[in-house]
Amino acid sequence: MIEALQKVRAETLARVQAAQSLEELERARVACLGRSGALKALLQGLAQLPAEERPAVGRLANELKAAVQDAIAARQQELARRATQAAEALLDITLPGQRQPVGHEHPLRLVEAELREIFARLGFEAVEGPEVELEYYNFDALNIPAEHPSHDSFDTFYIQGDVLLRSHTSPVQVRVMEQRRPPVRVVVPGRVYRPDTADATHSPVFHQIEGLAVGEGVTFADLKAVLTMAMRELFGPRTETRFRPSFFPFTEPSAEVDVCCELGGERRWLELLGAGMVHPKVLEAVGYDAERYTGFAFGMGIDRVALLKYGIPDIRLLLENDVRFLEQF
Ligand code: FA5
Repeated sequence: MIEALQKVRAETLARVQAAQSLEELERARVACLGRSGALKALLQGLAQLPAEERPAVGRLANELKAAVQDAIAARQQELARRATQAAEALLDITLPGQRQPVGHEHPLRLVEAELREIFARLGFEAVEGPEVELEYYNFDALNIPAEHPSHDSFDTFYIQGDVLLRSHTSPVQVRVMEQRRPPVRVVVPGRVYRPDTADATHSPVFHQIEGLAVGEGVTFADLKAVLTMAMRELFGPRTETRFRPSFFPFTEPSAEVDVCCELGGERRWLELLGAGMVHPKVLEAVGYDAERYTGFAFGMGIDRVALLKYGIPDIRLLLENDVRFLEQF
C-alpha cells in the first residue's frame, strides 16, 4: 500500500511538473485527487489493513495530498510567469507607433474659408441660401425673361414645375434684399448646378461665391476696388486682373473679370467671375428705391479659384474624391 502511494505520488508530481497548460495541470489534479482519482481508489483499501498500519498510511496519504497541491500551485505560478514573459516578448515599446490617417478639409472648403475671411475683412457678412430654388429667384426676379437668350446661360436641372437646382448664387441676392433694408453687404458661398459638359475648366456641379453691396452712392469704382483687393489677397500683391465688358440681365453695366495665371505650364487669362452694377429692375423687384440706392454684385467661381491657387490642371480632379489627390492639400 505504501509503495503504491509512493508510486502515485511520484507519477503525479512528474505529471504536474510536465504540464504545459492550466488545462493539463487540472487533468493531473483530477487524476490524482479527484473523486474517482488514484488516491481515493487506494484509500478504499485502507479498511482492509491491519489497524496498526492505518495511521502511517493515512499520514502518507495526507502528505501526498499536500505535496501534490503545493506542486500544482507552484506550477500554476510558473505557467503564469511564462505567459507574461511571452506577451512581453511580443510587445516592443520602442517600436514606432501606427499613425491613424487623419482627414482634413477639401481644397474647395479651404478656398471657400479663405474667401469668407477676405470678404469679412472688407466688411461683407457671409450668408447662405437654398440649392433647391424657385424659378422666380433663379430667373424672374433677376430680370432674366423666359424667352431671352440669356436664359440659356443659366439653364439648369428642373426638379418639378417651377422648382429647380439653382444655376448660380445670384438668387440669394434677391432673398437677402427681400429680408433687409440698405445698406447691405453680403457674400454667399454655395454649390450650383448647370447642364454644362465637363472639361478642364467646367463642371456640371461647381461652387460660387456671390457678393452684393447696396447703399447710397455705391459705384463701379467700389466694385473694382473690392475685387482688385480681394484678388491680391488671394493670389498675391502683384496679381493682374482684367475687367472685360459683358452682359448679365441683372447688372448694368456688366463685366467679366479674368485673372492672369499659369495653368498647365502656359500663361493665360482665366475667367473667374461675372460682376456689375445691380440692375434697377432687380432693386425694384425687392421694393428698393432705385433712384436712391445703387449697388454692385459679383459671382465668382470657387473651383476656378482653387485651380489657380493650387495650380490644378483640371477641375474634375476636385470632385473625383481620389485620396491620393486630396492628400496634397
Ligand atoms: C453668373 O453665374 C452670374 N450669376 C455672376 C454674376 C453675379 C454676374 C452677380 C453679375 C452679378 P457666370 O455664368 O459667368 O455668371 O458664372 C460666374 C463664374 O462661375 C464664372 O466666371 C466661372 O468662374 C464660374 N463658372 C461658370 N460656369 C462654370 C462651370 N461649368 N464650372 C466651373 N465654374 C464655372
